[in-house]
Amino acid sequence: MSGTGVRRGGPKGKRAPASLSGGLIRGRFARARLPEVEAFTASLPFDRRLYRQDVRGSIAHARMLARVGLISGAEQRAMAAALCAIEDEIAKGRFVFRLADEDIHMAIERRLIEKTGAAGQKLHTGRSRNDQVALDLRLYLREELGEIIELLRALRLCLLRLAQQHVETVMPGYTHLQRAQPVSLAHHLLAYVEMFDRDRQRFAQALERTDVMPLGAGALAATTLPINRRMVARELGFRALCQNSLDAVSDRDFALDFLYAAALTGVHLSRMAEELILWSSSEFGFVALPDEFSTGSSMMPQKKNPDLLELFRAKSGRLAGNLVALLTVLKGLPLAYNSDLQEDKERVFDAVDTLKPMLRLAARLWPRLAFDRRALASAAGGWTVATDLAEHLVRRGTPLRRAHEIVARMVREAASGAKAPEAPMPEQLRRWSQALGIDARRLLSPARSLRARKVLGGPAPALVRRRIGELLRRQ
Ligand code: ARG
Repeated sequence: MSGTGVRRGGPKGKRAPASLSGGLIRGRFARARLPEVEAFTASLPFDRRLYRQDVRGSIAHARMLARVGLISGAEQRAMAAALCAIEDEIAKGRFVFRLADEDIHMAIERRLIEKTGAAGQKLHTGRSRNDQVALDLRLYLREELGEIIELLRALRLCLLRLAQQHVETVMPGYTHLQRAQPVSLAHHLLAYVEMFDRDRQRFAQALERTDVMPLGAGALAATTLPINRRMVARELGFRALCQNSLDAVSDRDFALDFLYAAALTGVHLSRMAEELILWSSSEFGFVALPDEFSTGSSMMPQKKNPDLLELFRAKSGRLAGNLVALLTVLKGLPLAYNSDLQEDKERVFDAVDTLKPMLRLAARLWPRLAFDRRALASAAGGWTVATDLAEHLVRRGTPLRRAHEIVARMVREAASGAKAPEAPMPEQLRRWSQALGIDARRLLSPARSLRARKVLGGPAPALVRRRIGELLRRQ
């Protein structure tokens, strides 16, 4: 257990007798657990992260116990004070964690009993670790979801601000990674803002389902004692109560909702990272990565590598893995609580720890990117306006399929010419100008093409400006 700060066995390194080693709940056993079993089954090395939530839940539970008369006011006050002191011990690194405690719940309860004696022995009245851990995880995730929603808000704001500067910055839009039609950089950025807006909604929905109070479900079938669940929910600020005790202790749908939202946000960040990797290559040359976000090569002195973005790409795989791992844990679990559920926490923690820095770094990177407007415009030139030519013919009465074929033939002719196969040739343009009755060169401007794409959802600057305004108001 090195590195986890959790001591194996009982106090002072000696193997403690069964009464002390996991002593709170081993009354029915004649012998202590094998140390290997203890190490394998303990969640303490990772669930100690929930200590604040555990203390908060226990204080609320004890207050309720006092109000319904199951413990005295003095006992409740002694416990509340000791629980705060324990929280402080843990925060300051002074708490001695012992693997024999199994998990954070029993570690804190053990210490509480050490501190308060008989009063502490009453804390777990009407409660089980099964509803306790569900409560702690919900409290933890509720906080994290709030933060993640804020981080997404900040990221979309930085993209919107950047988009404001690039409403007229023409660039090629791609299909199949081949230049297709002109768009603007702002329009491209707004595609990501739409994705992050949907992500935000998904996290908000996950938050709503997380914000439901499970305590009182006991181990699986509530309790015979007259506890008051509403009181605890009110104290902890939950919007609702879990309505079925079996479901309350075995439900991890809220964690899956979060993991799915995190995995999909990861996919969006990864797609964005992939585009920046392409755009910052010499082949594209659309953007320069700032030094502060780039990495060198140990062998090739000239290299400026986008490691950060590559890891965005890879970590989205890790986020998807967390979702699949927990789905697999839950599949086939009989009701109600099973220890399999203990595997939920590391997946959730890992997703939180992976996603938050990605969101923070993305929001810092985007405003620092220097886009090469000329390179973008030049890549947008040439045959990206081929559809515009065909649509011009359509406007003059040519059926679309015929117009498509006429322009396709022009492209073929240009491609077989020696020079500039990516754009019409001058003699073609002359012929075209005669056929169309206008100067065909006018149709070849990507900026004009952009302005003409005025259909709702299209890239015309006027529309994009309006959408930016809407999105800014919807902060
Ligand atoms: N450490 C456990 C978990 O993380 C807490 C609940 C344990 N309950 C039990 N009956 N073993 O899920």
